Amino acid sequence: MLVGKIEDALLDPALHRCKGKIDLIFTSPPFPLIRKKKYGNETGKSYIEWLEKLAPKLCELLTPKGSIVIEVGNSWEPGVPVMSTLGLEALLAFKKAGGLYLSQQVICHNPARLPSPAQWVNINRERLKDSFTHVWWMSKSEHPKADNRKVLLPYSKTMKSLLKRKTYNAGRRPSGHVISETGFLKNHGGAISPNVIDPNVDAAQLPESLLTLSGTMVDTTYRDYCLKKGYEPHPARMQLGLALFFIDFLTEAGDVVFDPFGGSNTTGWAAQALGRKWISVEANKEYAQGSKGRFVRSAAPRPKRANSKKVARKVRKPVLITKRRKASR
Ligand SMILES: C[S@@+](CC[C@H](N)C(=O)[O-])C[C@H]1O[C@@H](n2cnc3c(N)ncnc32)[C@H](O)[C@@H]1O
Repeated sequence: MLVGKIEDALLDPALHRCKGKIDLIFTSPPFPLIRKKKYGNETGKSYIEWLEKLAPKLCELLTPKGSIVIEVGNSWEPGVPVMSTLGLEALLAFKKAGGLYLSQQVICHNPARLPSPAQWVNINRERLKDSFTHVWWMSKSEHPKADNRKVLLPYSKTMKSLLKRKTYNAGRRPSGHVISETGFLKNHGGAISPNVIDPNVDAAQLPESLLTLSGTMVDTTYRDYCLKKGYEPHPARMQLGLALFFIDFLTEAGDVVFDPFGGSNTTGWAAQALGRKWISVEANKEYAQGSKGRFVRSAAPRPKRANSKKVARKVRKPVLITKRRKASR
C-alpha cells in the first residue's frame, strides 16, 4: 500500500511502471459531501473537477481489456429533503474525461442499512430509507474481460425442482418472450446474476464460490486490530462481498487489481483472497496503518479456489508494504 494522495502517487515511478498493466481498478472514492469530513473530501463543483482530472491518468494504468468500477453512494442537499446529483455528475464527467464506455450500471443494495437521512425518513416520514449505492462499471473496450459464469448465484427452489422434473410450460409469455421446449433444462451450475447485487452475507445473495470468503471474520479481526493499536477503524468501509464479486467477475488469478482510495484496503484483501495481485493508495496514514489488520495471521486470506493453487502459494505471506510517499513533482 502506498501512503499519500493519489494525485501524488500517480507521479511515483512505482505506479508509472504499472501503465497498461492493471486489469481492474476497483474503488469507492471519498463521497461528494456537502460539508467537509475528517478525511478532507472535496465538495460541490470542485469534487466533480477533481475526479474528472484523475480519469485520464487512472485509465492509462489499465490494460486494453481492463475495467474501472466505481462505487458512489447517495447524498442529500443540506437542510432539505432533496437529493444531490453531484455523485452522478462526477461519474458522468469521469466517464467522459477517460473516454470510457459504461459497460453496465449496477446497484449495490443493502437492505440492512440504518434508515437515513434521519430527519426526512424517521422524523418527518417524507422520504424512503436510502439503501443502495451506484456502481458504475466502465471500460476502455466495448468488450472488457468479464465472465458472468464465475459469479453465478445459487438456483432458486423453483429452478432446482424444474431441473429435477425436466418439464415446464414452454411457449409465448405475456411479455412476448418465447420460451423454448428445452432451453431451461440444462444445468449451468447456477443462475446468472442480475445487475442488482446484495452482498449482505445474511441475505445469502452472493455466488456460492464467494460466500465462504465473505463470511470470514475479517472485519472483526480488522476492528480488533485497530482497537488494539489505537487506530480509528475506517468509518466508510465498502462491503467485502461487493469487492469479491467484481474482482471474481472481471479478473483472473494472477491479474492486478488497483484501488486509488484504499481506505481499510477491503479491495486488497478481496484481491488477495481470490489469488490476484493488488496495489492500493490511501491518503490517510492512520487508515493505511489500520489496514494491516486485514492481513494479520487470523484474517489473512487463504485462497481455496481450484485454479489459483499456484498463486495461493505466492500470496500466502501478506504483501503489504506501507511506505510514506512524498510528492515528487
Ligand atoms: C470511501 S473511503 C474508501 C473505503 C474503502 N473502500 C474501504 O473499504 O475501506 C475513501 C478513502 O479515500 C481516501 N482519500 C481521500 N482523498 C484521497 C486522495 N486524494 N488520494 C488517496 N486517498 C484519498 C480517504 O482517506 C478514504 O479512506
